[in-house]
Amino acid sequence: MASAAPLTTDIETPPALRFITCGSVDDGKSTLIGRLLYEQQLIFDDQLSALEFDSRKHGTVGDEVDFALLLDGLEAEREQGITIDVAYRYFATPRRSFVVADTPGHEQYTRNMATGASNADLAVLLVDARKGVLPQTRRHAVIAGMLGIRHVVLAVNKIDLVDFDRAVFDQIVDAFNEFAATLGFRSITAIPLSARLGDNVSEKSARTPWFTGPSLVDFLERIDVDDDRAGKPFRMPVQWVNRPDQGFRGFCGTIASGTVTCGDEIVVLPSGRATTVRQVLTPGADDAAQAGDSVTLTLADEIDIARGDMLATPQARPQVADQFAAHIVWMSPEALLPGRSYLMKINHNAMLATVTELKHRIDIHSLAKLAAKTLTLNEVGVCNLSVARPIAVDSYADNRDTGAFILIDRYTNETVAAGMIDFALRRATNIHRHHYTVSKPVRTALMEHRPAVLWFTGLPGSGKSTIANLVESGLHARGAHTMLLDGDNVRHGLNKDLGFTEADRVENIRRVAEVAKLMTEAGLIVLCSFISPFAAERRLAREMLPEGEFIEIFVDTPLEECIARDPKGLYRRALAGEIKNFTGVGQPYEPPLRPELHLRTRERDAAHLAQDVIDELIRLKVL
Ligand code: ADX
Repeated sequence: MASAAPLTTDIETPPALRFITCGSVDDGKSTLIGRLLYEQQLIFDDQLSALEFDSRKHGTVGDEVDFALLLDGLEAEREQGITIDVAYRYFATPRRSFVVADTPGHEQYTRNMATGASNADLAVLLVDARKGVLPQTRRHAVIAGMLGIRHVVLAVNKIDLVDFDRAVFDQIVDAFNEFAATLGFRSITAIPLSARLGDNVSEKSARTPWFTGPSLVDFLERIDVDDDRAGKPFRMPVQWVNRPDQGFRGFCGTIASGTVTCGDEIVVLPSGRATTVRQVLTPGADDAAQAGDSVTLTLADEIDIARGDMLATPQARPQVADQFAAHIVWMSPEALLPGRSYLMKINHNAMLATVTELKHRIDIHSLAKLAAKTLTLNEVGVCNLSVARPIAVDSYADNRDTGAFILIDRYTNETVAAGMIDFALRRATNIHRHHYTVSKPVRTALMEHRPAVLWFTGLPGSGKSTIANLVESGLHARGAHTMLLDGDNVRHGLNKDLGFTEADRVENIRRVAEVAKLMTEAGLIVLCSFISPFAAERRLAREMLPEGEFIEIFVDTPLEECIARDPKGLYRRALAGEIKNFTGVGQPYEPPLRPELHLRTRERDAAHLAQDVIDELIRLKVL
């Protein structure tokens, strides 16, 4: 259970407080901040008259000034009545300065909440006194806890609308405390208030005589949130290498934690090379710097260092690995697909990453760990991730900067998840690649052809397997060493644990691509006949192989034609609702945009198309 919040004494000037406001839609976040700025006389007169005008125009609170309008800077929000972006506001009272990220409460916008929370010291979690703790309140509390926010103000707003009733307040506070007990907060401070009328915002309200705590402003001015980053081991992810001429090489970045002084020994990760700091260049021209400072370092030795490398103290090194366990908050309407590759951004690195195993999803009501195959919008889960190359990281619990990452969809460029590293997986460091004595070139030298993967993709019933069979016969007749992998067959063995959900299809293709790759290492021409409906996994398969070895063959038969042919009677059943997730009926097929071969089955018969494939292989010098 969280204990009382530490408060500073009157004589100190506390450092700036970074906080976020969060909660459900309509529980008054914007109104609260607007009221706060107004009461602290931080609103200019012209803003106030515009506000009075707007309040009349939009008319959401009768004749009074609607403070929310001040905050809802975006026109779109005014029209829809919701807040849709993170807005940072800087303000100061005579006692302290503040940076507040006003984050949206609408379910779909948890993403912004996670963005705003990642560097905040405190969260003001608003609850509507009439509604109590809602799913969104819980979700935001869970995310705030995960993001390392240690202090929470439970602002029980609209207390005027429940007649300043103490029993209502106590009940909400009890419910929240019980729920939040395991979320790792150091303090939870509940305050009954009315953002609209001003009770307990700046001044203690006479209408809540039973409340013995401070007003919100008083509390925010006095809470002591130690920034302990400078006391932690030195970390600086390299943001860029400044090399204006041969004579100078500076490594620039923001110090994530610890301090650095001229003469300090450091290590460069992942390479592990050691050196000492020659100069610490800062705008202030000091020879030392600490967490939060942006600096340029020069080093005693010429070491190869690139953007994304980490400079660290040798005494307490970060972990270097290419597999991690992590918590993620999924922020996209498109579900997480384990096995799909996403772009991971972490410590100025951008590289491909896949969720290799989703361990569980966290139920935001009970905080129970539930089995899950995927995460959908706003869900929180724990997973293992694998990245393209080893990198240096810390666990998020140790360092909120060097342990945080985001995942980006490679096609839409949308940020789909925020992640926090739990720990590096040992197995990543324990498994080493074994170098074969007989290598791929040696094996393929025995063949009269080059290895290749012929990847046939298309709708069910488009004719993939028929054409692939004919191609294989033709290749075999020419003395080529081949292997045919076909969806229906592989799904009886290697992939018999997989069905046809999007997640299972992704895994199906990932495994097949790995198998095909192994077979090319044996020197074979591998024919793969799979619907493989998603461009992302076809691209994954392509990227596993050396340039030119992956030949994508689009077997293009229009859906109406496939439905008319219906060789296995599956379309009939799918259209009758008996098979859900059937490609082309209940699930999409993304046609290739630039396949090496585009076979139009309505224009030529299968035998001719197979010959076209073989001709193309000759042209590409596979044969
Ligand atoms: S893929 O989408 O994961 O690439 P794959 O090619 O392995 O699919 O398997 C497709 C075969 O499974 C089809 O030829 C069909 O016989 C069968 N099948 C059974 N259910 C479905 C379904 N819901 N969608 C597509 N194919 C299905």
